[in-house]
Amino acid sequence: MNQTMQTILGRRSIRAYQSRQIDEQEMQEVLIAGQYAPTAMGQQPWHFTVLQNPDLLEKLQLQCKAVFLHSDNAALREVASREDYHVFYHAPTLVIVSGDLQAITPMQDCVLAMENMLLAAASLGISSCWVHSPIMLCGDSAGAAAFNALELGIPAGYVPYAAAVFGYSAMPLPEATPRKLDTVTFVR
Ligand SMILES: Cc1cc2nc3c(=O)[nH]c(=O)nc-3n(C[C@H](O)[C@H](O)[C@H](O)COP(=O)(O)O)c2cc1C
Repeated sequence: MNQTMQTILGRRSIRAYQSRQIDEQEMQEVLIAGQYAPTAMGQQPWHFTVLQNPDLLEKLQLQCKAVFLHSDNAALREVASREDYHVFYHAPTLVIVSGDLQAITPMQDCVLAMENMLLAAASLGISSCWVHSPIMLCGDSAGAAAFNALELGIPAGYVPYAAAVFGYSAMPLPEATPRKLDTVTFVR
């Protein structure tokens, strides 16, 4: 198996982090990987927020936790009600990719950028986990107002489409969730 395949198959969502911040040079490499994702008509209609301020991270995680606690989904409510549940797993970096609402396919473009970043991070020994709650937070008007009050520098007309935490793992690498392998139809 080549190195790219090893990285893709070896990446796992990590849910416990060391407090040590990611090496700056490596963070830049991860961001470049995001910026080299394909986009509809090459529009690159995105903005990357790299949130590394501990106070703001904590404020945002409390807002996000409240979203899970009030969700219609019982599983989300159950997870968030655990005393020690931290939406960002204490990771030192959160990246949010926001897209220009006027672009052709901003959601797809932002999601592809994030996947590139998860894989680039894995290749550099940096762990990550996609976290959906910041996107859910922005999905309702009160949540979006609270999020905007954090003043993260997201350009007007852009909305967050993808968020993930990054850092150095503080847990053993978990086994991969078994994949559904019977979901392919070849038509020849
Ligand atoms: C759209 C999306 C939303 C996700 N949201 C969360 C989340 O809020 N919290 C979390 O811990 N993991 C989240 N995940 C990670 C998935 O749980 C994880 O990718 C899946 O269980 C497979 O595990 P793996 O990433 O280790 O292969 C999310 C993944 C995706 C693609």
